[in-house]
Amino acid sequence: MLILDSPTAMRAWSQGRRTSSRTTIGLVPTMGALHDGHLALIDAAAQRCDLVVVSIFVNPLQFNRTDDFDLYPRPLDDDLAQCRARDVAAIYAPTPDSMYPRDFETNVCPGSLADPLEGVGRPGHFRGVTTVVAKLFNAVAPDVAVFGRKDVQQLSLIERMVADLDMPIEIIGVDTVREPDGLAMSSRNRRLTPELRAAAVVVPRALEAAVAAARARPRADPEALRRHAIEVIDAEPHARLEYFELVDPSTLREPTRDDGPLLAVTAIWFDDVRLIDNRLIPHS
Ligand code: PAF
Repeated sequence: MLILDSPTAMRAWSQGRRTSSRTTIGLVPTMGALHDGHLALIDAAAQRCDLVVVSIFVNPLQFNRTDDFDLYPRPLDDDLAQCRARDVAAIYAPTPDSMYPRDFETNVCPGSLADPLEGVGRPGHFRGVTTVVAKLFNAVAPDVAVFGRKDVQQLSLIERMVADLDMPIEIIGVDTVREPDGLAMSSRNRRLTPELRAAAVVVPRALEAAVAAARARPRADPEALRRHAIEVIDAEPHARLEYFELVDPSTLREPTRDDGPLLAVTAIWFDDVRLIDNRLIPHS
C-alpha cells in the first residue's frame, strides 16, 4: 500500500495506473480516525472499482472552531493498519503545505443547499468541504467517490458540485453504520467521556421517536413530530440541542407538500462534542 503525500505524487500514481490498463479507481475521502462506517465506504468502493484510494486529511478550511480542529483525533498508524487489512491500494495523506501553500486563495463556493441546517451554525464549513473535495478529486482522478449518508447535507452538496462543474465522477452514498445502541459511528464519538457516551444515545432515540410517531399517525403535522422528538432530547440533561428539523429530503428545506417522505436531521452538543445524525421518515 503506497502512501502519497502531495497532489503531484498522487496524480502521478493515478495517471500511471490509468495508462497501463482500463483500471477503475474508487476514492474514499476521510479525515482519518477510521471506524466501521469508513470501512463500509471502503467496501462499497471495492465492490465497484479495481483499486481503492483512501484520502486522510484533516482539512483546516472546514473547521470554524480551532479547538475542534486541534482536538480532532489523528491515529494515523491505526488508520494505515485498517486500510492495509482492507487491501487499499494507496493512501493519499497530503501535507497541509502541499494542499494549501502560502499563496492559496481559490475556493469552490457552494450554492443555496449549503445555507440551512449545518450552514446556519457553521458558516463557511461547506465551502471548505467543497473546496477540499474538488482538490482531492483533481489529485486522485477517481471514477467513483463514496460518502456516508450520516453527513447527508455534505453528500447532497457534493452531488450538486459534481453535476454543476461537469466532474466525471460517480458519487455513491452509503447508509450510516450504527453502534449496537443506535448511535451513528463518528470519529467524534471518541471524544465523549463514558457519561456523555451513555447520554449520546438520545440522538438515535429522538430520531426513532419521530419515526415511531409518524408511523402511528400517518400524515401527522411535521411540527408535531418535531416537538415530540425535542421532548425526548430535553429529557436528557447532558444534551444541548442545536437543531432538530424535518425537511424535504431533496431540498433540505421546509417541506412544501403534505405527503412524501421527510428527512429528520439533528445536531446535538454533549459538552464540547457536536454530533449530527438523520433518518428518513415515512409520511404518507
Ligand atoms: O466527511 C468527511 O470526513 C470530510 O468532510 C471530507 C469529505 C473528507 C472532506 O474533508
